[in-house]
Amino acid sequence: MPAIRKPTAIEARALSRRLLRWYDGHRRRLPWRAEPGERAEPYRVWLSEIMLQQTTVAAVKPYFEAFLERWPSVGDLARANIDEVLTLWQGLGYYARARNLHRCAGVLRDRHGGRLPEGEAELRALPGIGRYSAAAIAAIAFGRRAVVVDGNVERVIARLYGLKTPLPKAKKEIGILADRLTPARRPGDYAQAIMDLGATVCTPRRPSCGLCPWSGSCAAEASGAPEALPRRVRKKARPLRRGVAFWAARSDGAILLRRRHDAGLLGGMIEIPSTAWHLDGWTPEAARAFAPLPARWRDLDGVVRCGFTHFELELIVLAARVPKGRRAPPGMFWWPLDRLGEQALPTVMKKIVAHAGPSTFAGGAPVRAGPGRAPR
Ligand code: ADE
Repeated sequence: MPAIRKPTAIEARALSRRLLRWYDGHRRRLPWRAEPGERAEPYRVWLSEIMLQQTTVAAVKPYFEAFLERWPSVGDLARANIDEVLTLWQGLGYYARARNLHRCAGVLRDRHGGRLPEGEAELRALPGIGRYSAAAIAAIAFGRRAVVVDGNVERVIARLYGLKTPLPKAKKEIGILADRLTPARRPGDYAQAIMDLGATVCTPRRPSCGLCPWSGSCAAEASGAPEALPRRVRKKARPLRRGVAFWAARSDGAILLRRRHDAGLLGGMIEIPSTAWHLDGWTPEAARAFAPLPARWRDLDGVVRCGFTHFELELIVLAARVPKGRRAPPGMFWWPLDRLGEQALPTVMKKIVAHAGPSTFAGGAPVRAGPGRAPR
């Protein structure tokens, strides 16, 4: 495949100027974004960039506003209770981001006088701030020249230069081209401009090339099929893991919960107790030996499915009803079903609640009207 010619400095400057002019007329007004000519507030930029990782602008807006109202400064967030942070984060997913956000606020308070450092390297040393976020914060909050590459930027650059190399292999090439294009003047606006371009004009499926400031210079536009780029290596199907969740309902209206270990998947989140999630699965019979407490565990109809980054999960739910006085096993606790909304439950756990919850206490009936006697 012929090598892509890197833009000369003059070509790069002309392209970035065209993009910045477009941004001046078409920038999106976003709650974390400074108005033209104003300086962005680093706390807002940091908070928004962490929330925007793997989430859309539309989804982030209400969360951003709720966080800012509840914790208006780094110091307020550092003092916050982590459970409250996780509760307000509910629905944004990838909860490790919320834990790191809170941890990072503590580090900023303890070691940086409550302020974000300005350089990419110092930013990258902080919890939850990776290469992309460090570059975005340095450029947007502090006007540092930093090369900001997210999924939108990858798409725009792959199209502009007609890159045939599929992602993720093309990342290195895209990084080099992105570096060439990034101007020394207004790097924060440039970063936001190329992200806005990707989100509003150079969209994945139906790009509006007629509205693009780079129209006439874009290889993908010239090809007549801009949506064909970027190419991607097809992802391998995710493996299926299986597990069994234990829905224990106490007759006073409480459900048995526990907190996951801090490290690993859904670290520190509240969950409905379950077996480990295995590739070769479980039978309900084998799982009963791992039940959190002795009871008549009944197999609910159907399964709960949930997708994670690296695997699909399928859970069988066993349910039991236990009497009022029953103590929680070590490391677990009872929590009222009607106050479950106060707990930051990850999506998979909410699905279990939706699956098992409605039949739990209906009319004081057993968990599930299965054959035989009601479980006690
Ligand atoms: N996506 C992530 N960060 C963004 C920003 N600052 N502006 C627009 N889209 C974004």
